[in-house]
Amino acid sequence: MTRKLFVTTALPYANGAFHIGHIMEYIQADIWVRLQRMQGHEVHFVGADDAHGAPIMIAAEKAGVTPQEFVANIAAGRKQYLDGFHIAFDNWHSTDGPENHELSRDIYRKLKASGFIATKTIEQFYDPVKNMFLPDRYIKGECPKCGAKDQYGDSCEVCSGVYAPTELKNPYSTLTGATPVMKSSEHFFFKLSDPQCVEFLREWALDPQRLQPEVANKAREWLEGGEGESSGLGDWDISRDAPYFGIEIPDEPGKYFYVWLDAPVGYLASLKNYFGKTGRDFGAFMADPTTEQYHFIGKDIIYFHTLFWPAMLKFSGQKVPNNIFVHGFITVSGEKMSKSRGTGISPLRYLDIGMNPEWLRYYIAAKLNAKVEDVDFNPDDFVARVNADLIGKYVNIASRAAGFIAKKFDGKLSMDWATDSDAFLATLRSAGSEILALYNGREYGKALRAVMDQADIVNAYVDANKPWELAKDPAKAAALHEVCSRLMEAFRILTVYLKPVLPQLAQQVEALLNLAPLQWSDAAVAMPDNHQINPYAHLMQRVEPKMLDALFEAPETEAPAAAPAADAGTASAKKNLPHPGPLPEGEGENSGAIEALAPEIKIDDFAKIDLRIARIVNCEHVDGSDKLLRLTLDAGEGRLRNVFSGIKSAYQPEQLIGKLTVLVANLAPRKMKFGVSEGMVMAASAADEKANPGIYILNPWPGAEPGMRIH
Ligand code: MSP
Ligand code: ZN
Repeated sequence: MTRKLFVTTALPYANGAFHIGHIMEYIQADIWVRLQRMQGHEVHFVGADDAHGAPIMIAAEKAGVTPQEFVANIAAGRKQYLDGFHIAFDNWHSTDGPENHELSRDIYRKLKASGFIATKTIEQFYDPVKNMFLPDRYIKGECPKCGAKDQYGDSCEVCSGVYAPTELKNPYSTLTGATPVMKSSEHFFFKLSDPQCVEFLREWALDPQRLQPEVANKAREWLEGGEGESSGLGDWDISRDAPYFGIEIPDEPGKYFYVWLDAPVGYLASLKNYFGKTGRDFGAFMADPTTEQYHFIGKDIIYFHTLFWPAMLKFSGQKVPNNIFVHGFITVSGEKMSKSRGTGISPLRYLDIGMNPEWLRYYIAAKLNAKVEDVDFNPDDFVARVNADLIGKYVNIASRAAGFIAKKFDGKLSMDWATDSDAFLATLRSAGSEILALYNGREYGKALRAVMDQADIVNAYVDANKPWELAKDPAKAAALHEVCSRLMEAFRILTVYLKPVLPQLAQQVEALLNLAPLQWSDAAVAMPDNHQINPYAHLMQRVEPKMLDALFEAPETEAPAAAPAADAGTASAKKNLPHPGPLPEGEGENSGAIEALAPEIKIDDFAKIDLRIARIVNCEHVDGSDKLLRLTLDAGEGRLRNVFSGIKSAYQPEQLIGKLTVLVANLAPRKMKFGVSEGMVMAASAADEKANPGIYILNPWPGAEPGMRIH
């Protein structure tokens, strides 16, 4: 049965170029879409820029252009990425397009008519200079818990405290520096707490056939709320006051939809715009009960897509999504992407330096699964997978066989062996259904492993039959012809299996084999006898490891000329401090040989030092330093820290990766020759370095978790 599919990726904010995280999402969705198309399904795959909201309005103002000009400029840059990475969107639109204005207002009117919109007057910080209400992110002040300066309106980066912006001491607007005043205003709410809504969402989100288990668990937590509450869902504030770049609320001058109200409507708007251009009936397609709707998104926007969006659609009387496919984030060598640390990979630079986009598609696919797990881009792993698997196992099959077909057999295949009872073919073909199921279930890594298992079988056949040996003996021409034809047929079948991931390579193979575009079902039908193929042209280069070095952006922090800070980052204080009293003697195995104790402190002094459990998510040598290791630490803050530590003499990076340790978390960041060190890890060392030159980093008792404070 032909399925009708409507597929989207999340709509990226139109405030910057695509980064590698966006590209990863598009690759994931694109592979799925291409797979469906190869099965003959009807797929409409659309994207759009998410144009609205305060940050874009403010960015445009800073740039001295209108928000419309600002987002048009961003939109103009999209195509080179999408074409560059072979992402086959049918349409790319904008949430500021007329379709979205119309559809968003229409949804609102329907929600209102069915009683799902309420109003409430709320008090909020207001910037009296800029004359606008301030979103939390534009308010800073002193943390009400620890007094740290310049903390954001919702949480403190120093003590990790969370609070309301109104609790900040000496608050100021980051836009103008003015002291914000409290001002009240009427806001519009979508009544998510309505029992009908809660009931619908329970049914939709907790259907065991629907969301990924981790996603369903989140939805359950949100729906069930804390103890004693019947539902955890509060009504959702969907309005913002002018000035705002957005869609005006019908009949409410000066009130705009909050960007997250109209953003997902942009999915429909892009489809409608596309159908308009191609003369299709948008209303009929969306009203068709057999139309299936899927959204690919990242883990940070689950809330909007599993609660607000289905509820908005349901109670405005429309089709609800069949499913939301959630992926994790891409990290680079175990670190969150960061310009300042030079760990970001620019997708454009990737293309500019001549790296093949299908290497990245292959690599990302090889690492993706159906879980909400982060995917790590690791340069060495990238080189290994592309060169050893993609080229070594797959591409090489063609290069080993096609030349003989051209040279010795006029480019004609001998296929009379290719009956349904042929065991070699049967093995290759029978793998297809499992591979298909894995792709369909977004288990791309497993799918590619299954393809490479088949490639291994084919390569074993090459080694067993040695076409280059057969070619030396004219009496073995028939055998050579069959062996090489089998290899070309095997290569064709593997190409079908890889085509969703490698569309351009598959096209080159189709040209080589002189075939129409391969569909999934073509794996089951052998090429005909005497089929004429074209001369072999090189299909794909190997990755040069050098290319990976050029790929990384240079860190933004400049290197100060000052000393290299030999032991910077460790807590192994080497200075002997004066001691206030006699040492306790005779106790412990090390008595008499320890460093003198530091002067006594009060508990308050100790409390100033914020020690946290941190996981060493990555560790590497520092080029040009014989003392330092570079640690990437996760202290549970939702960001990673870069810390240099003078422990190179004591540890190999691999020994530390994955281990927990103790971080001095509130130490002022320190700029070093090699970058900024954001805290330090604690380590023990002996007073008498000659007797014991070791450095021993701390490792907590099992059960401790990143972010826990050490008291
Ligand atoms: N504009 C909203 C989405 C609105 S959808 C109606 C938004 N935009 S975004 O540009 O911040 O993110 C777009 C998509 O990229 C999201 O699915 C997000 O999860 C994903 N990613 C952002 N950073 C990512 C990584 N580092 N890795 C993988 N995906 C990432 O959110
Ligand atoms: Zn604080």
